Amino acid sequence: MKGIVLAGGNGTRLHPATLAINKQLLPVYDKPMIYYPISVLMLAGIDEILVISSPDYVDNYRRLLGDGSQFGISFSYAIQERPEGLAQAFLIGREFIGSDDVALILGDNLFFGAGLARTLRKARETSRGATIFAYRVDHPERYGVVTLDRSGRPLRILEKPEAPESNWAVTGLYLYDNRVLDFAAGLEPSERGELEITDINRIYLELGNLDVERLSRGHAWLDTGTHESLLEAAEFVRTIQHRQGLQIGCLEEIAFQNGFIDRDQLIARGHMFDKTEYGRFLLRIADLAPDVDDG
Ligand code: G1P
Repeated sequence: MKGIVLAGGNGTRLHPATLAINKQLLPVYDKPMIYYPISVLMLAGIDEILVISSPDYVDNYRRLLGDGSQFGISFSYAIQERPEGLAQAFLIGREFIGSDDVALILGDNLFFGAGLARTLRKARETSRGATIFAYRVDHPERYGVVTLDRSGRPLRILEKPEAPESNWAVTGLYLYDNRVLDFAAGLEPSERGELEITDINRIYLELGNLDVERLSRGHAWLDTGTHESLLEAAEFVRTIQHRQGLQIGCLEEIAFQNGFIDRDQLIARGHMFDKTEYGRFLLRIADLAPDVDDG
């Protein structure tokens, strides 16, 4: 399975903070926002990742992430000329995806919770076509919303409905089989002028091939689209990291646990950042791992 991180958009709700920088490069506490979604793909065992961003910023991602060898994975880069919808990622990434399955994650979504790696790996194995991840929220009208029957099967899925039928928001992480390429190619732009990911999900739903994994209340799903939610996400990361002495979204740690990099590579990265808690953490787990919980 290949992975795509979509890190485009104009970040207009974060102006003026994002006038000269792409939102997904902003820090969430101690690391760039995009580290968090990349960590989710790596936890799912994915080691080939395409980063899609706008023309002005794609080189910043190249500088930040390089070819991925420091994490034992590979990064490729592509440009989204204009923010014309999440589903456009499959048109832009068509060649990269080739004949594989694909996971799409939004560059501003932060997931945290016990057993996330297991949930993702299980979903990869059992998916019948598409798997989406739903999370209970208080204000579902801001998101895609899925209505489920008693056994958890999806009945309907709507993009930002005014009167939501359920509290289950569709999070920005999607697993698809290779048919998604053709489904995306056949989409028409919505009223807001975008190729909607919800329309892709609806196609799978109508075919009876959409699975919905509900993330339990023990998980956190945070978005970072406004000044308020960005600060809340940073405070969340700081609180957990400070209390546990562990790291959230630490790419070297996951790479090491997955066997993508060896102990020497981990230690070398630790020395690069040894003025920070992030770097000291890498040096510490080089002696402890692999018994740190995969949460
Ligand atoms: C997008 C999707 C929406 C999903 C959300 C998750 O919303 O269209 O279905 O719930 O991401 O972050 P947008 O960021 O385009 O408002």
